[in-house]
Order: sequence, then structure tokens, then C-alpha cells
Amino acid sequence: MPAAVVDSQIGVVRSVKALRARVDGWRAAGETVGLVPTMGALHEGHLSLVRRSNSLARRTVASIFVNPRQFAPHEDFGSYPRQEAHDLELLQKAGCHLAYIPPPEEMYPDGFQTSIAVSEIAQGLCGGSRPHFFGGVATVVCKLINQARPDIAVFGEKDYQQLLVIRRMVKDLNMPVDIIGAPIVREADGLAMSSRNAYLSSEERAIAGRLNAVLADMAAKLSAGAEVAATIDDGRAAINAAGFAALDYLEVRSADLLEPMGPGAITRPSRVFAAVIVGKTRLIDNWPAEPPAA
Ligand code: PAJ
Repeated sequence: MPAAVVDSQIGVVRSVKALRARVDGWRAAGETVGLVPTMGALHEGHLSLVRRSNSLARRTVASIFVNPRQFAPHEDFGSYPRQEAHDLELLQKAGCHLAYIPPPEEMYPDGFQTSIAVSEIAQGLCGGSRPHFFGGVATVVCKLINQARPDIAVFGEKDYQQLLVIRRMVKDLNMPVDIIGAPIVREADGLAMSSRNAYLSSEERAIAGRLNAVLADMAAKLSAGAEVAATIDDGRAAINAAGFAALDYLEVRSADLLEPMGPGAITRPSRVFAAVIVGKTRLIDNWPAEPPAA
């Protein structure tokens, strides 16, 4: 595919109609379109998705929408960081062509009553601790794809289960879009970048930085043939010792279907998944492990 157009100013649209007008114009000119869905408070992880999209499609649309349907009432919807002007600057610098920033009533007008439910792959892990979450994500991502009608849509492996839920939905519903997964972008100490890292005090930030080291160590042991059950016990002890307020989950699952691995050694490409609480902030991360060569 040809490289993206790089010399355009970023535009902003806030309605489906205006979004479609821009995308239809590109299509009429024979240009391909990539979509990068976000909730804003952008960081280098999000921008890496924009660059990935630009390497695969001529034009990139990033959406910014803090989706109320994926937050439970006790969660941080109200306090989720919102910084539109700064986000637009970052998107512009990353080479994004259009920002789609719909108000809630554009996404969920009065009378809205449809939701998408993806079953097995959305159960357990984040689906276990946040039962409302993947229904909200699948519904909004389905709508964003139908609204923008992109050729590709790019998602980060940081939210690995989310990526698989979206792949499943797109396949099951015959949605004409290619889902692209992109690697996790990390801070210098390995902490996975996240909009929620902004909530951390400096003390909490230091603790948060230890999670990735624990997961990397577990993945290395599993790749060397260690048993899953013992590796999880060691990982849990290391997380407790690091000062996290709580461990939501720590699991080893297959990379393709998220099937639980163990209690013995892994037999298929796998991922170590964790969700932890630091202070009051919930953070997730995951790390790949390959079975030892036979
Ligand atoms: P948000 O958390 O803003 O993330 C938007 C996209 O950026 C997701 O695909 C996520 O996996 C990716 N991302 C976040 N941190 C990353 C990192 N450190 N490295 C690489 N990619 C990273 O995920 C959502 O929003 C929402 O659930 C959404 C899909 C937009 C639906 O509302």
C-alpha cells in the first residue's frame, strides 16, 4: 500500500454526517482509511497506533470518545482525564488526518437500545472483574467502525483481551474491516503506558513500575519450561512484596483463545495477564511466553 499523505492539517468532526463526508471524499479519491479508536488523554502508545495506521492506509481517523457504556457506576468515568486541545496537538504531530470527537448524544441518541455481546473470549480476566466492560467496548467499537467505514482499525496489545474480543466480533458479524494489533509501548522502566498512569502519585508510580518486571520474569520462566501453577505462586508473592494494594488477577492463558494454561508447563504460545490496584488505580499489563522448543 502507498505511504500515507503527510502534509495535511488535522481536521475535527463531531457528527457521523461530517465524518462520513470526509471519509467519502477520501474514498472517492481512491484513498484507503485507517481508524484508531481512543478515549483520549493520549500518550505515545496511542500515537504508535496512529503511525501504524498511517503505514498501512493513506488516511487515518482517530476517535476520541470516553464511552460511558464501558464504565460501571463506581468506576472513573467522571474523573477520566479529558484534554482535547493537547490531544489534537499530539494527533497532528503524529500525522493523523482527522479527529472524530462525538458528543455522547451523537453516539447514544435518545431511544438507543442495542448492544453487542461477545461471549467466551470476553469472560474471565477483565471480563471477570468488569462484567459490563466488553459489552460497552464491543458496542462502541462496532458503531465507530460502522460510522467511519475504515479499511483497517488498529488496537494495542496493551488491552490484549479487548483486541481478541474485537477480532471475534468483526469475524462473527462479517464486518468488512481488517483489525491490526500493535505492540505495547512502555515507559523507560517498562511500565505500560496508560492514560490512567496520570492518577499515580510518585510513590505509586514507583510501585507500578515493578509489575512489568514480575510479568517478564514469569514469562521467561514459563518459556524455559517452568510449571504454570508454581510460576503464578512466585509471581503473586513478588507482586505482594512490591507494595501493590491488591491483585485483581494473575493468570496464564493461551495467546489465541485465552484458554487457561497449566498447572504444568505451557504447551502453546501464551500470555501472562495481570490486573493490579496501586493506591486506588487499576492497571493492567500482559507479557508473551513461548513454550520451550521440543
Ligand atoms: P484507550 O484506553 O484510550 O486505548 C485506545 C487504544 O490504545 C487501544 O487500542 C489500546 O490498546 C491502545 N493502547 C493504550 N495504551 C497502549 C500502550 N501502552 N501501547 C500500545 N497501545 C496502547 O481502549 C480503549 O481506549 C477503549 O476501550 C476503546 C477501544 C477506545 C473503546 O472505547
